[in-house]
Amino acid sequence: MSLLKNIMNTLPILILLGPPGSGKGTQAKQLSKSLHYHHLSTGDLLRNESKKETILGKEIKAYIDHGELVPDETIINILLQSLRESNNSEGIILDGFPRTLTQAQLLDKKCGVKKTIVFHLDVDDDTIIKRIIQRRVCVQCGQLYHLEFHPSKKPGQCDICHGKLEQRFDDKEVIIKKRLEIYHREMPLILKFYQNHGILVHIKGDESQEKITESIKIKIAKKLVE
Ligand code: AP5
Ligand code: MG
Repeated sequence: MSLLKNIMNTLPILILLGPPGSGKGTQAKQLSKSLHYHHLSTGDLLRNESKKETILGKEIKAYIDHGELVPDETIINILLQSLRESNNSEGIILDGFPRTLTQAQLLDKKCGVKKTIVFHLDVDDDTIIKRIIQRRVCVQCGQLYHLEFHPSKKPGQCDICHGKLEQRFDDKEVIIKKRLEIYHREMPLILKFYQNHGILVHIKGDESQEKITESIKIKIAKKLVE
């Protein structure tokens, strides 16, 4: 645990917050490529775990498929395990964590906020639903597409690895509404927590993907020279 504490105290940490479909994964992938930061998506970690068909995997799948949050203890253990394996990167991008005030407080206790910047992608619910329903994900490499805003060159096939594109099971309208409901219940507490620490940055999430990446990079550059 002390090695982990060491890593987390010295590396910059970017936290990407936002409703489902706000572009956390899209931005995290882009930033991780250009900044050489390690991208940690708790949603991806959980989906990988759920594919293992273990008792834990099946429990996790049930939460995700119903649009519910996985219990704090479960996600924290999985995240810490993954962080221990990420010690070669120049920074860490957390995508989808924290999701509850308890998770935010625990992260703060473990890492402090010295080199942390929290970005909140603001996107309204109607835009979210349009984005998620038309999202497609490569089953092999995880590349994200959107049927209208960011289509693959060949329908149903990933441009990068030629893997099959699929819709996530939890991307059905009724489940999206449940995910949004939980988001609106939990997120104000988390935003207030980071606002009080003075490290929260709001980003307009309905701009183009490129413009959003640029805005985030400018904020990071400013913060890291402070
Ligand atoms: P997770 O996988 O994190 O899902 P989410 O938060 O609901 O977010 P999404 O992945 O759906 O959206 P995103 O913000 O990444 O958007 P994306 O970039 O794909 O979590 C899934 C589940 O796991 C949770 O419901 C919960 O059960 C569990 N879980 C995860 N973390 C947990 C935690 N910490 N604690 C407890 N449980 C947890 O973009 C969406 C679409 O829009 C794409 O098609 C993309 O191409 C398009 N797009 C992106 N940006 C733009 C743009 N600027 N303009 C137009 N289109 C855009
Ligand atoms: Mg995502």
